[in-house]
Amino acid sequence: MANMIESQEFGKGDFVLLDQLTKEAFMDNLKLRFQRGRIYTYIGEVVVSVNPYKSMNIYTPEYVKDYKGREFWERPPHIYALADAAYKTMKRYLKDTCIVISGESGAGKTEASKIIMNYIASITNVSHRSEIDRVTGILLKSNVILETFGNAKTTRNDNSSRFGKYMDMNFDFKGDPIGGHINKYLLEKSRVVHQQKGERNFHSFYQLLLGSTEQTLNALHLKRDPTAYTYTNQGETNNMKSIDDKRTFKEMSGALKSVGFSHDEQQTLFNLLAVVLHLGQLEFVEEGQKVRIKNKEVVNYIASLIDSNAASTEEALLTRVVAARGEVINKIHSKEDACFARDAFAKAVYERAFLWIVERINGIIEVKLDVHRYGKSTVIGVLDIYGFEIFDNNSFEQFCINYCNEKLQQLFIELVLKQEQEEYLREGITWQNVEYFNNCVICELVEQSHKGIIAILDEACLNVGTVTDQMFLEAMDKKLKEHEHYTSRRLVPKDKDLQHDRDFRIIHYAGSVTYSVIGFMEKNKDQLFQDFKRLLFQSSNPVIKDMWPEGQQSVKEVTKRPLTAGTLFKNSMIQLVEKLASKAPYYVRCIKPNEIKSPIQFDDKRCLHQVEYLGLMENVRVRRAGFANRQPYQRFLQRYKMLSSYTWPNHQCRSDKEAVTALIKDISSRSDKGFDHDVAYGNTKVFIRTPNTLVTLEEKRSELIPHIIVLLQKMWRGANARRRYRRTVAIYKIMNRYRRYKMRCYLLEMNRRFANIKRMKDLGKSVQWAVPPKVLISLAQQMKLMHARWRAKYLIKSVPKDQWPAIQMKCAAYDALHNKRQGWLRPRKWEGNYLASMSDNASLASVFLTSVDKLRSKHGFRDVIFTAHVRKVNKHNKSEDRAIMVTDKLIFKLDPAKGYKPMHGVPLNKITGLSISSGTDQLLIIHLEGHDDLVTCIHKTTPQADDRVPEAVGRILRLVKTELRSELRVNVVQQAQVKLGGKSKSISVDQQNNASTNFRKVSNTMLMLVTCPT
Ligand SMILES: Nc1ncnc2c1ncn2[C@@H]1O[C@H](COP(=O)(O)OP(=O)(O)OP(=O)(O)O)[C@@H](O)[C@H]1O
Ligand SMILES: [Mg+2]
Repeated sequence: MANMIESQEFGKGDFVLLDQLTKEAFMDNLKLRFQRGRIYTYIGEVVVSVNPYKSMNIYTPEYVKDYKGREFWERPPHIYALADAAYKTMKRYLKDTCIVISGESGAGKTEASKIIMNYIASITNVSHRSEIDRVTGILLKSNVILETFGNAKTTRNDNSSRFGKYMDMNFDFKGDPIGGHINKYLLEKSRVVHQQKGERNFHSFYQLLLGSTEQTLNALHLKRDPTAYTYTNQGETNNMKSIDDKRTFKEMSGALKSVGFSHDEQQTLFNLLAVVLHLGQLEFVEEGQKVRIKNKEVVNYIASLIDSNAASTEEALLTRVVAARGEVINKIHSKEDACFARDAFAKAVYERAFLWIVERINGIIEVKLDVHRYGKSTVIGVLDIYGFEIFDNNSFEQFCINYCNEKLQQLFIELVLKQEQEEYLREGITWQNVEYFNNCVICELVEQSHKGIIAILDEACLNVGTVTDQMFLEAMDKKLKEHEHYTSRRLVPKDKDLQHDRDFRIIHYAGSVTYSVIGFMEKNKDQLFQDFKRLLFQSSNPVIKDMWPEGQQSVKEVTKRPLTAGTLFKNSMIQLVEKLASKAPYYVRCIKPNEIKSPIQFDDKRCLHQVEYLGLMENVRVRRAGFANRQPYQRFLQRYKMLSSYTWPNHQCRSDKEAVTALIKDISSRSDKGFDHDVAYGNTKVFIRTPNTLVTLEEKRSELIPHIIVLLQKMWRGANARRRYRRTVAIYKIMNRYRRYKMRCYLLEMNRRFANIKRMKDLGKSVQWAVPPKVLISLAQQMKLMHARWRAKYLIKSVPKDQWPAIQMKCAAYDALHNKRQGWLRPRKWEGNYLASMSDNASLASVFLTSVDKLRSKHGFRDVIFTAHVRKVNKHNKSEDRAIMVTDKLIFKLDPAKGYKPMHGVPLNKITGLSISSGTDQLLIIHLEGHDDLVTCIHKTTPQADDRVPEAVGRILRLVKTELRSELRVNVVQQAQVKLGGKSKSISVDQQNNASTNFRKVSNTMLMLVTCPT
């Protein structure tokens, strides 16, 4: 399935989908994917991983996001999919799961385990809760510590794990990590005292020597030079470019601190490393019967580092106390014994320190939650254990390691087959048997009681007396001569590859391995003289004392013989397999593409060998033998329901199973080659036998997808547009309602304020208008106008009609003069025709009236609107006494001295405007078309200095309005601008008491009206 989401150029993402399952096709696909940078490929749910030997940009947070919560087939193959599946199974079904990572040394197991743990840490700790942070932090950091003390450079891998590790991560019912536990298996401790060429001791020694401070080194009596120590210089590998000990030392001490190792504990660990290095420097010399230590100062260093005294340390190194027949005697070592004891001591000190570190970490991350309260915690276990090993010289360690791989292979076969079989049974599908090699027989060869290799070895070790490794070989030859997976030179004399009395060969499932028996017995006995245990128990350093509790045992005490290393390992393997078998397993099968750590080379022969011994082809065959693919009905429908009208968009059948049956029948009947015989219907899943059928389904699906996408887009766009439309309509409705609401509020409020308007004294003039909403601003203005009009009408109603013209004139004056001219509204009666008034113009009124009659008959005007005596100035700046008369047709200038003889008459429509001064003087300028304005000052009034200018203005404005239906502009200014003789002049006013009214020339463009105040 994974294949479907990756382009064909990357080969098949799942080996199950290979058209033909041949070795060639399998290898071609593996190679193609490796060359195209696709290091992961599936076999169903097993991940095959090829070491890329380069850093890959596929472990970023984006990738984590991409795989989180997804199914295997949803994304291209990745180890994250497997980690996620393990986590999902654990969380969904509250089932313990385990991830078994296997492959040979350097194939990438440890890297894979770290990638998995990092993935699980990042998907579980999204909210960064401190307790989860702490737990995941310790789980991840503990890897750094364990790698320092348990990994070493070998010829195959610069960071080879020299111990097996099984790490449990515990989760609570919510899926949050709450703790963990580490199991370690068989540390290759012989490396502490001996390394082959091109290899190194454990990283810890080099890191301490190269990374720690000068001060620390001095305190440990060490030199910053790994070549100076026997235990670190045998491999002759200095200045490795690929290993940065200095940096890793920093990381490691940081990790020790943050995981929770105290300063004293760290110091003790460094002391013990130094003790081992110093032990390697000890030289023994024979002196007659006795053996002596040549470099005594080294003993002093060791004694001080283990907090003991030099004498006891020396004694433990040179002698051993034995109890014989109730007596205790001190037996002196030979030089050989002393060397052996020294090495055994060094190995034991290191192994015990390693063990202690693991236990200490376990103590820190142990689950402390109350099971009754929080329920049982579930577990994801990650097994990163040494891969199958074949060296030139294979010893006891390789024997154990390869046995371990046999056990795991067996578990793999059993579980994969068992699971498959169980599934078919559960689903009610008939199962066909698949031929595969069951390595159970090899496991038995090693572990069977009495007859197995470990049993024979134990028996040899148990024997009192001098049983040699050769005798052990003889015993095996005798007991196992019939076994088809065991041989030796004695059994096959012609096989020159096997050395007489030294080699035996086991035909492992992964290939034949020749082991040399030399050292088997000694390693199996794994003896350490009691003297050393006592020495360390008596240390005044509590950490060291704690590591060696068996040191308190008395010399005379008879104890049961401890179990041998072989038996211990066998038991731990049986336990491990039991533990794994009880969990839902997930497999990562690592492949090493070449021996030279190259990111491009794909060594066909080596890879084929690994594919063969990992049983990958069998795995694919088993998977394909039954059915290449199976899916729950519901998921199948979800993916393929568009292929038939029975199921698209939703089926009407009684069950999903029926719907799937109908769907398959429908498509099958429409294709060239029907395929319903290729499908079986289980209870909850549909099973598809050949990948071809699946490919056909996928192809048909891919054809339809674009149409569905267009349909979905169409629907989505439609739905979106409808939603937007509905929302817009709703918005307008709300706006409308709100506006109306605001308007109603405003109107109601105004209604309230003006409710009693008729009864108000000022008819609502003092009522405050509320601030209107925006939409009502113009309405409010109109209402204000309406109110003003209504109020005016109301007020006017009480005034008699004949007074209306007077009011209209005053209104005209109001509009022009209010707030502009001082005292314009003095309480005086507006008479208008003052020259005809006997009180005003007693002496000349009759003369005036005669003149008016003449003029009326000549010019045909109806009414005399305003008359007055004025002082007038002409274009020569000369002032004269004159009279003006405003009628409904013309304005006349009259000469009072000549019986009001008319001098000039101007039609009303020639008036262009009026100008008066803002003061109370009587300046009255009538602007006319042509070269001259009429520039006058009203005078000679009775009473004297009567203010008649406002009246003149009001009357002229009203007259122009009624006669000409137009408005005149009135300038109320300090300094008036006039036109006389076509020239522009300005006129200012000077009021002086008793002055006679006159215009005076100030300059060619300036006149001054001198007049007395009114
Ligand atoms: N996914 C990966 N990405 C990049 N490099 C990798 C990857 N996997 C492995 N390597 C490289 O291969 C080296 C060996 O891998 P690793 O230590 O995991 O092997 P191993 O299978 O644990 O071997 P051993 O059995 O010796 O412990 C790593 O140090 C690293 O350089
Ligand atoms: Mg490893």
